[in-house]
Amino acid sequence: MNYKIMKYVFPILFVAFVIGCSDLNDDLTDPGHLNIHKDGIASTDSPNFHAAKLAESNWDIESCQQCHASDYSGGTVEVSCNGCHSNPGGPESCNTCHGSFGDVTRIAPPTDLHNNVATTYKGVGAHSSHIYDIDIAAPLSCYQCHPNQTVPGQSYISSHADGLPAEVSIPGYNSAAATCSNTACHGNFTYAKSGSANPWGFTTESIAGNNATPLWTKVDGTQAACGTCHGLPPTGHIAADLNLCVDCHGDVVDESGNIIAPLLHADGNIQLTSENVLSNTACNHCHSNATTQPFEALGGVTDRNSSRVGLHNEHLFENSKGSEINCESCHIVPATYKDAGHFDSTYGSEVVFTDQQNISLAASSYETEIYKCNNTYCHGNFEYSKADSQYPWAYSGSTITGNSVDLTWLQAGDEQVACGTCHGLAPIGHIEADITECKDCHDTVVNEIGEIINAEKHINGMINVFGN
Ligand code: HEC
Ligand code: HEC
Ligand code: HEC
Ligand code: HEC
Ligand code: HEC
Ligand code: HEC
Ligand code: HEC
Ligand code: HEC
Ligand code: HEC
Ligand code: HEC
Repeated sequence: MNYKIMKYVFPILFVAFVIGCSDLNDDLTDPGHLNIHKDGIASTDSPNFHAAKLAESNWDIESCQQCHASDYSGGTVEVSCNGCHSNPGGPESCNTCHGSFGDVTRIAPPTDLHNNVATTYKGVGAHSSHIYDIDIAAPLSCYQCHPNQTVPGQSYISSHADGLPAEVSIPGYNSAAATCSNTACHGNFTYAKSGSANPWGFTTESIAGNNATPLWTKVDGTQAACGTCHGLPPTGHIAADLNLCVDCHGDVVDESGNIIAPLLHADGNIQLTSENVLSNTACNHCHSNATTQPFEALGGVTDRNSSRVGLHNEHLFENSKGSEINCESCHIVPATYKDAGHFDSTYGSEVVFTDQQNISLAASSYETEIYKCNNTYCHGNFEYSKADSQYPWAYSGSTITGNSVDLTWLQAGDEQVACGTCHGLAPIGHIEADITECKDCHDTVVNEIGEIINAEKHINGMINVFGN
């Protein structure tokens, strides 16, 4: 018999029969319930729960539409799915099979398709860290890692559930190892000096990231830490500490090294900021210039115990013992911030002594690692010779020499500049005299109690005696 006809005829006959019989035989037994599913289809704690059944069929929900209607509202069996699945789209809502069942805005795992929530499962992995709980870059969309076939907001496309594992469209993704490689986001970037408007930012031909290979199932923050995707600073980049990035990338980071504008970070663009060196090239924008007091090192550091500050103030502004010492004595001073040599790949190695008017600093040296200054004229590396002198009688030996003390840049206080440290009282090779007597001959420099009365004449590279 024609099946189509039977399909309609049979229920009509059946209904007529039931009505007929009930009219006549009120005591007939209940015809029973048509059990298509095993018991427990609606009980979450049953092995027959429909979620488990669906997983076995690779989430083929179209098969349910035959009886429960294409919009799942009940259909021929008049059992609606939408009472329980009350989100728009009913069971086709994107958070039904993956994501948070109770939150339509969270459609990516967790939970994954097998209800796992631990990030050590590949299905869960670092989804949240990329999409919902991300604070160092813009949130990613599904299509940035998955083929663009089913997107949030779109109607359900059944073909996207075509069997696990999920397709990942990142070329460097290794599903077996669950690692990602060669992604721009994790540091697969190279910016060439030759193409740059700011070549002064480079110490080599290019600035490059670390090109990290993160593990998708390790979600403990270590792979999103500063310094993993690119160095601090990146390879080939001028020297900078984490707290200094702000000087030039101030739209992206703050002085503590926090990302303040996630949308601008790791977005594929160079961000040299508006409020930075390019709009404010003043020498004291990043550190002190010759007039800012007290000396402020990079990153706003003014603590004298910091090597960055060290004895700057003592030399620049608080020098009561000698002539003021300018930046040029100890550094090569750039004319503009972008001059070659101003920034480079390491900190602290740029102490370069340059002779001043009468003072030769040629023999001086600075040991960066131990912050030690050696052989400076100022600290007693001087030698005057009796043979060349117009006052040979002032000599007890063939030369008058200082003590040439080696100093530490880290030790503040008077100890390194007490009378008698840089040269003896009187100096080696000088006729005997005590401190109250120096003024008898060096009258323009000291007074009768041994105080320096004219710092401009003391430590000036000249012999000052008898009124000159
Ligand atoms: C051949 C018809 C048919 C198909 C196909 C079908 N169902 Fe059903 N379903 C029913 C009938 C009839 C009931 C009423 C209870 C029963 O008979 O088990 C029902 C009841 C249910 C219930 C219980 C509802 C409640 O409120 O207690 C759930 C859950 C359910 N079905 C899920 C599914 C899912 C999921 C699919 C697809 C994988 C599906 N059904 C496919 C006929 C069907
Ligand atoms: C009695 C309430 C109820 C009814 C009726 C119901 N569901 Fe569900 N369904 C649930 C609950 C609860 C879950 C989720 C369990 C979880 O993930 O913790 C679920 C899960 C699912 C899932 C996800 C499976 C997975 O892998 O996580 C699908 C798909 C689904 N239901 C389809 C249907 C369809 C189709 C119907 C109607 C034929 C239906 N459901 C009827 C309660 C119901
Ligand atoms: C009935 C269950 C179900 C529903 C509802 C569902 N998905 Fe999926 N989804 C899957 C399964 C199963 C996979 C696993 C991947 C596969 O099979 O290739 C998947 C994977 C995905 C993926 C990973 C890429 C891929 O295709 O493998 C994306 C993205 C996705 N779903 C988005 C959505 C969006 C958006 C919606 C809502 C419009 C949605 N899904 C609704 C079952 C579902
Ligand atoms: C940063 C890249 C990335 C983004 C963004 C992303 N996914 Fe995934 N997704 C993956 C990876 C990697 C896997 C694991 C693939 C495998 O099994 O090897 C995966 C797996 C899945 C799976 C399969 C889960 C399972 O149980 O195996 C689903 C479903 C899924 N993603 C949905 C989504 C949805 C929906 C979005 C957007 C809301 C999204 N993903 C965004 C990388 C991503
Ligand atoms: C997940 C990888 C990743 C991590 C983790 C990361 N970065 Fe980045 N960062 C990048 C990428 C990629 C760039 C390359 C430029 C771009 O695409 O915007 C970049 C660029 C920068 C820049 C240059 C300005 C810009 O946006 O162009 C600064 C400054 C910076 N990062 C600082 C940080 C700091 C500080 C941290 C730690 C809080 C950090 N980064 C952690 C990937 C990362
Ligand atoms: C003194 C200024 C200055 C400081 C401080 C500085 N940068 Fe840069 N940075 C630059 C310049 C200039 C470029 C090259 C930009 C170009 O090519 O136009 C650059 C480029 C970069 C790039 C590659 C291009 C981009 O914008 O993504 C990264 C990444 C970067 N810097 C990170 C950092 C980090 C991290 C710090 C702190 C540890 C830092 N920078 C501190 C000046 C600076
Ligand atoms: C964008 C921030 C910035 C600006 C603006 C800037 N500097 Fe610097 N300066 C630095 C950094 C960073 C260092 C440390 C460089 C190193 O150790 O490689 C430095 C170091 C120095 C030094 C020590 C010697 C050296 O090269 O390490 C002197 C002197 C100096 N700067 C003078 C100046 C003068 C003069 C100007 C104005 C023409 C200026 N700076 C503008 C950031 C800046
Ligand atoms: C007496 C010698 C001397 C004089 C004068 C001097 N400096 Fe320095 N400067 C140093 C020493 C020593 C260091 C520490 C180098 C190190 O890190 O080991 C230093 C470090 C610096 C640094 C790097 C600090 C940091 O934050 O990392 C800057 C910038 C600097 N000096 C700028 C200047 C400027 C500008 C002047 C003039 C206003 C000046 N210096 C005068 C000796 C001097
Ligand atoms: C930081 C090292 C240093 C200290 C400390 C120092 N001197 Fe000198 N002194 C020198 C140097 C260097 C000369 C060599 C002459 C010159 O360049 O003016 C000198 C020269 C002199 C002269 C010879 C006059 C002259 O300037 O030519 C007298 C007198 C003198 N010092 C007294 C003192 C007295 C008194 C003290 C203690 C208050 C003192 N010095 C502390 C470095 C020092
Ligand atoms: C009686 C006079 C006399 C007294 C007292 C005297 N000096 Fe001198 N001193 C000289 C003369 C003269 C020279 C110059 C030698 C020359 O021109 O070669 C000289 C040279 C020096 C020099 C090396 C050259 C220079 O000027 O830097 C120093 C340092 C110095 N004296 C320190 C002292 C100190 C410190 C005292 C006190 C403890 C002292 N002198 C006491 C006469 C004296």
